[in-house]
Amino acid sequence: MAVLGHVDHGKTSLLDKIRGSAVIEGEAGAITQHIGATAVPLDIISSIAGDLVDPDDFDLPGLLFIDTPGHHSFTTLRSRGGALADIAILVVDVNDGFQPQTLEALDILKRSQTPFIVAANKIDTVPGWDPNEDAPINDTYESQSERVRQRLDESLYEIIGNLSDEGFSADLYWRVQNFQRNVGVVPVSAMTGEGVPDLLTVMMGLSQRYMKEEMEIDVSGPGVGTVLEVKEEKGFGKTVDIVLYDGTIKEDDTIVVGGQNDPIVTEVRALLQPRPLAEIRTESRFENVDEVGAAAGIKVAAPELGDAMAGAPVRVVRDRDLDDVIEEVQAELASIAVDTAEEGVVVKADTLGSLEAMADALDEAEVPIVRAEVGDVAPRDISVASTAEDPKQQVILGFNVDVLSDAEHRAETDDVTIFTDEVIYQLVEEYDEYVEGIEQ
Ligand code: GTP
Ligand code: MG
Repeated sequence: MAVLGHVDHGKTSLLDKIRGSAVIEGEAGAITQHIGATAVPLDIISSIAGDLVDPDDFDLPGLLFIDTPGHHSFTTLRSRGGALADIAILVVDVNDGFQPQTLEALDILKRSQTPFIVAANKIDTVPGWDPNEDAPINDTYESQSERVRQRLDESLYEIIGNLSDEGFSADLYWRVQNFQRNVGVVPVSAMTGEGVPDLLTVMMGLSQRYMKEEMEIDVSGPGVGTVLEVKEEKGFGKTVDIVLYDGTIKEDDTIVVGGQNDPIVTEVRALLQPRPLAEIRTESRFENVDEVGAAAGIKVAAPELGDAMAGAPVRVVRDRDLDDVIEEVQAELASIAVDTAEEGVVVKADTLGSLEAMADALDEAEVPIVRAEVGDVAPRDISVASTAEDPKQQVILGFNVDVLSDAEHRAETDDVTIFTDEVIYQLVEEYDEYVEGIEQ
């Protein structure tokens, strides 16, 4: 399950509260730089949710939460048909309400038809709020003054109204009968834990229902997954953090991974598993395991992963024909490949999912793309952009990526303009303004 929402609305804090560790403290500027996957076992969920969740009612082992800094990575996870991102939590700050990335996330949820609930976060910041640590929402709501309740109600109804403007019929979660038809809004505080029992209860119910009806995960076949992140790891070289959503992956398995150029064929050297309740991106003491079954977040160490891309498919070959598997991976990559033109702007993005979303947005704005790639803005991108004849196309648009310092210098000398942003439509708007400026 993925957690989406606008910057600073509390996605990481909410997960943090749930897993009871302090990932946020180790985060640079408390901004999530990377995607993490956190497994929360059922017994922990039921202990947080108290009376609301009886573990005997569920046959799920627990929930796997994916914290998404760029919610577009979610598109890739989702389009793989993965069990993991089959439901989502959209986090909205009750005071701040709907923001650009909230709308962008909603748009993705709409297009992918993903069932989701809304966590109306930071209820403790409602003026006059009297906190009740970790209490279910009903209890804490009852204990607030009339005035405070009214204020909260107003904010909640504004969110419900915003959802309805976007075409979702939503209501407070306890009034929702059918979560597939209506969006439930759960008031919570990641800070005080109020409403978190309710949130987990609704999530468990939704996953149980959805997983049972919609999918059976095949846990015995060759593993299928998606790359979340490519990372240098001491002693292992380049590794990939993957979400395995089907089958198993074992040490010594031959795997095929989507790369910048051709699919990478390599052999698993080590499988490094974060412990339950540990965050994959901050956990340094991984457990070395021989085998992992879906669904899980796992770090894979293998040679030649330097070219692997975030958002790309990973497949275990096992007893199948290698060429068939390579073809499968190629087909999957082709389905998310961006159509490029002879001339146009250069686009860089952090994952395949976000690259795809960028390409869609630019297509709508009728901006041609000459080159589209996953990764930071590098000197070779400047070379490509600088060869454009039209100054409007001597441009690089970077979504959720960094500009390498030598690229920055090159851009200055080569007269290439670089735009970067964390919100797609803002990036497109910036570019539009730039073009208008040139045309005047
Ligand atoms: P990005 O990863 O940067 O998109 O942000 P995020 O959505 O993960 O938000 P994060 O969890 O980092 O929280 C942002 C800020 O809001 C932090 O300073 C948190 O302490 C604060 N915050 C989050 N949830 C709550 C809440 O329920 N109540 C209060 N008072 N503060 C909160
Ligand atoms: Mg975060």
